[in-house]
Amino acid sequence: MGQGKYIGVLSSGGDAPGMNAAIRAVVRTGIYHGNTMFGIKRGYQGMIEGDIEQVNRYFVSNIIKDGGTVLQTARSSEFLTKEGREKAFKSLKRFGIDSIIVIGGDGSFRGLHQLIQEFPIQGIGVPGTIDNDLYGTDFTIGFDTAVNTALEAIDKIRDTASSHSRLFIIEVMGRTSGYIALYTGIGGGAEDILIPESPMQIPQLVSELEAQYKAGKKSSIIVIAEGETTGGAAEIKAAIERVINWDIKVSVLGHVQRGGDPSAFDRVLASRLGYESVLAVMNNETDKMVGMVNKSPVLTPLQDTWTKKKDMDLTYLKMNEVLAAQQVKALEVTV
Ligand code: F6P
Repeated sequence: MGQGKYIGVLSSGGDAPGMNAAIRAVVRTGIYHGNTMFGIKRGYQGMIEGDIEQVNRYFVSNIIKDGGTVLQTARSSEFLTKEGREKAFKSLKRFGIDSIIVIGGDGSFRGLHQLIQEFPIQGIGVPGTIDNDLYGTDFTIGFDTAVNTALEAIDKIRDTASSHSRLFIIEVMGRTSGYIALYTGIGGGAEDILIPESPMQIPQLVSELEAQYKAGKKSSIIVIAEGETTGGAAEIKAAIERVINWDIKVSVLGHVQRGGDPSAFDRVLASRLGYESVLAVMNNETDKMVGMVNKSPVLTPLQDTWTKKKDMDLTYLKMNEVLAAQQVKALEVTV
């Protein structure tokens, strides 16, 4: 193992709960093994502007429990240009940084891959995004916390939905991925879950709901992924209203899903991935993401993380249909 590298760490793209735990693990593992560690602020934009400082182990004291990211983050349009990346590389060289660890999602990894192709810099990615949409890891940092946050909101909406006999269409984040919707839908006992991985046509949804309504169902929850492709919450609401006389509300949970203290799962995952990323750098690995697959650390070429499709077990969707249908049946018996 080579030692004594100059390693920069940054968080990039949308923040995710657990990024701080990952930063802490990177900084402390790096220092433990005799490397010099740097914090790069505001993602690639901070890299371009040279917003970089050497950090010691105390820089990351008491942050494992905090949401957000102490290094802050950004989506940099300047970094999408060759000139921007050249400026960024020059900043890294000014600090003597020879390797970087990027905590982020697919956009951040595309940027890292591009930088590595163009300039002599070593780089490893750590999957940090609530979307859980990266190939090469079972879970991304922040997903578990986001799901629990959304679930808490759905539970509360369930109370008001049943008090008012309303149908709620709840939109959750995930960009083009339906993982957050799938997990929150199942956890929240949703009657329907709409995700891009298995698009449901609106007429089918409407007839299912009509059957539930006629069977005496008083309230209902539909969880819809923001990347759902058949129409979006507003269009679905309008389609249902044309057929069923049900009081329907749309609730978009939004950025609340990105904040909050990370769950125990995310803290442990982030710590392990941060630790593994430094070992990968010290082993001279580059242009790869470190993930956890079947409980073991795995390195995946960065390009595969966005070009290959992460498998989703659609049995969970089928299972939810069965569980929701059983709820209607039970009602049919009691009314
Ligand atoms: O990638 C994380 C994410 O929260 C997505 O789920 C969402 O589509 C997007 O970021 C929102 O981005 P922004 O915070 O830039 O509006």
